[in-house]
Amino acid sequence: MTAAGTITVLCAVLGPVESTVVRRLGEAGAAVTVTRRCADLTELLAAAEAGSGRAAVVSATLPGLGREPVARLHQAGVRVIALDDAPEPSTERLGAIGVDAVARSVHELPAAVRDEHTRPPTAPDADLTRPRARTGRGRLIAVWGPVGAPGRTTTAIELSVALAEGPPAPDRTGPPRRSGRGSLRGRLSRAGRASRRARRGGPREQVVLADADTYGPSVAPRLGLLDDSAGLAGAVRAAAAGPLEVESLARHAPVTLPGVRVLGGIVRPARWAELSGAALDAVWDRSRDLADWVVVDTGPVLETDELLSYDTRAPQRNGATLGALAAADVVVVVGGGDPIGLHRLVRGLDDLAALPVPLTPDRLVVVNRVRAATVGDGPRGAVRTALARFAGVDPFLVPDDPAGLDAGLLTGRALSECAPGSPARTAFGDLADQVRRIVRERMSPRAEASPWVGIPNRRHA
Ligand SMILES: Nc1ncnc2c1ncn2[C@@H]1O[C@H](COP(=O)(O)OP(=O)(O)OP(=O)(O)O)[C@@H](O)[C@H]1O
Ligand SMILES: [Mg+2]
Repeated sequence: MTAAGTITVLCAVLGPVESTVVRRLGEAGAAVTVTRRCADLTELLAAAEAGSGRAAVVSATLPGLGREPVARLHQAGVRVIALDDAPEPSTERLGAIGVDAVARSVHELPAAVRDEHTRPPTAPDADLTRPRARTGRGRLIAVWGPVGAPGRTTTAIELSVALAEGPPAPDRTGPPRRSGRGSLRGRLSRAGRASRRARRGGPREQVVLADADTYGPSVAPRLGLLDDSAGLAGAVRAAAAGPLEVESLARHAPVTLPGVRVLGGIVRPARWAELSGAALDAVWDRSRDLADWVVVDTGPVLETDELLSYDTRAPQRNGATLGALAAADVVVVVGGGDPIGLHRLVRGLDDLAALPVPLTPDRLVVVNRVRAATVGDGPRGAVRTALARFAGVDPFLVPDDPAGLDAGLLTGRALSECAPGSPARTAFGDLADQVRRIVRERMSPRAEASPWVGIPNRRHA
């Protein structure tokens, strides 16, 4: 039993200095007591999660010490104090992985532990459950959709390219009007926007396109990249080991399309655990410093692991998707333009709404591959009516364009390069404009007052 007011400490210190540390912490007047001497990080985490201590004193060089275990210690309500007595201090690395305090000698340790104890507690799950990361300047767009290959990857790629092209040049015909889409003026306006995009020349904004689909990653093969590039998993490993510099992140994300860097996905779904946790969150944060837009292709499955909720520390099968959704400024939900695709989309919107993860209310619903062959004459109206009735949303429509998309598959390129006149390309360009509009309105001071300002196509409660 420990006296009231005594701080319980878990000790994971390497080498002969360990006994000195334990003795120093246990001295009269230190107001701390060592409750567990741990041989390694695994034992430390087990002791922390069993509630055996409120602070952890660790060697700065403890094998495995990184962002993820530190986040787990915080989750267990344990402050982390590193003993870093090497001639070359690694204070920056320790700070980057979330260590709370650093002592440069054994003598400093009792005071460091006490100081940490008196500071207000860190929100235990701050790393993993924050609703939206807002560091840096880039905006994160998560592209999600239910099973059945509705076009998540296609949407993520084409949205990335359209965002990189920058906002459309001023349009003398005025802003597009939904009512005019089927009219001559609407058609002229769309054609005008497409040609203005085509004339713009090189990319004007920077985009990071990341593949976080841990079931069927396909961004890299779709764009002809080699499988063995470390991509997103490499960036996550780098973030787990210490500060992730923008330059290092850029090395994992080669420029693959005009203005678009690609963080390729994992090579095999069995390696899903490589994409989860606090280090992946750190990659999203840092990507915002690398680019104006971060577009994340996600997997279709949303279930949180049985009996576990998102904010536990165990790696979650769907952690990459849930983390990207939680970090997103805008969620783009993609469904297929056929009866089964629409049915799954309606269910998927319910699943999204029921997620135990705080999500942005800024969502755009896209119905892809809209065609008369699957929904009958007047397919655009039919899809709109169905989604208004069963989901209360006004979707964004992308036409079926097998010629354009097949050319993309054949050449490994985006529509802007292999089929510039593609109707699907024009629709994805409009989608990018809509994403920009939402983000712009969200940034205006008045928008903070209402989460729904200016977002025409949202899920109605
Ligand atoms: N608008 C479109 N017109 C024609 N074909 C399309 C369209 N959008 C996507 N496709 C084609 O549909 C197929 C599936 O698209 P995609 O890979 O983007 O789906 P996904 O949702 O990412 O699938 P997965 O579940 O495998 O990740 C691809 O062959 C793609 O070229
Ligand atoms: Mg895909």
